[in-house]
Amino acid sequence: SIYSASTTAPVNIATLKYWGKRDKVLNLPTNSSISVTLSQEDLRTLTTATTSPDFAKDQLWLNGKEESLASERTQHCLQDLRQLRRELEEKDSSLPTFSQWKLHIASENNFPTAAGLASSAAGFAALIKAIAKLYELPQSESELSKIARKGSGSACRSLFGGYVAWEMGKLEDGSDSKAVEIGSLNHWPEMKAAILVVSADKKDTPSTSGMQLTVKTSDLFQERINNVVPKRFEQMKKSILEKDFPTFAELTMKDSNSFHATCLDSYPPIFYLNDTSKKVIKLCHAINEFYNETVVAYTFDAGPNAVLYYLEQSEDKLFAFLYHLFQNVSGWESKFTKEQLSQFN
Ligand code: DP6
Repeated sequence: SIYSASTTAPVNIATLKYWGKRDKVLNLPTNSSISVTLSQEDLRTLTTATTSPDFAKDQLWLNGKEESLASERTQHCLQDLRQLRRELEEKDSSLPTFSQWKLHIASENNFPTAAGLASSAAGFAALIKAIAKLYELPQSESELSKIARKGSGSACRSLFGGYVAWEMGKLEDGSDSKAVEIGSLNHWPEMKAAILVVSADKKDTPSTSGMQLTVKTSDLFQERINNVVPKRFEQMKKSILEKDFPTFAELTMKDSNSFHATCLDSYPPIFYLNDTSKKVIKLCHAINEFYNETVVAYTFDAGPNAVLYYLEQSEDKLFAFLYHLFQNVSGWESKFTKEQLSQFN
């Protein structure tokens, strides 16, 4: 006998950044964070989990290539899921004993891994969702997000689409550190995102070690987690609920800048933004100033690529600018074709 289940999980982009852990094993953060995911399908991981009493060992294929499941993080997730399945089997002895069988897991991204997008978040979220579906676990998305969090902190937010908060929690066992929905995808349908692939190179400092260094060495970081982010978290949630784009945009840009400032304040410093990223930042501010209204917001994760947020009704205004200027920005690679952009010329 053989059983299988498939599901997808989206890439999520933080508009209020997670940067810093208070517990490295459980991936418990030093601050709450927020992400905005505008499509379940544009950038996603599709995962199929299969189990059978005939499988000899747990195995994982990522984009067709076998990868190791040995990492402590992955093992932690598999143990938690098997434990939840075991509890079901103990209550209902007619259930097949999946908790004792090995798993075969196949994952595929619909975007190039090298694009510098946080693929581990969607990867862990899809893994947890697929196995939970296979095991017919009754746990809610928020409950499952705590397991995904142990795989990669930001993965907990990919259990939901739309507007998501990761509440940092206070407890030592992490049982209150979970993702919750602020608003669904439909809550603010005018919101749009564009990704500017500034560089497809692999990022230099992995986020796990980068944030460790920041926690250890940056003085600015203490100010960020104690006095800046707690307030900003409430303000950003409110701006999303009220669909207040100027406020949302300002908080998003400021938080990206604050996060990159703590990277620069780490010792030795960490640089994720390159010269092109900085030109994109200047360009966004120039656009907003030109129209005398908030047309666009930028945010950057642990790499040089920009994610821009804007409202559908401002798309022409934004693209008109991008079209005129992007050719002059060296290293610029837009995800839009020239034909698409030229209609705004
Ligand atoms: C800059 O979730 O990749 O993208 O918990 O160590 O796996 P680990 O880190 P990870 O860090 C993401 C950092 C970020 C900001 C964010 O997504 O909130």
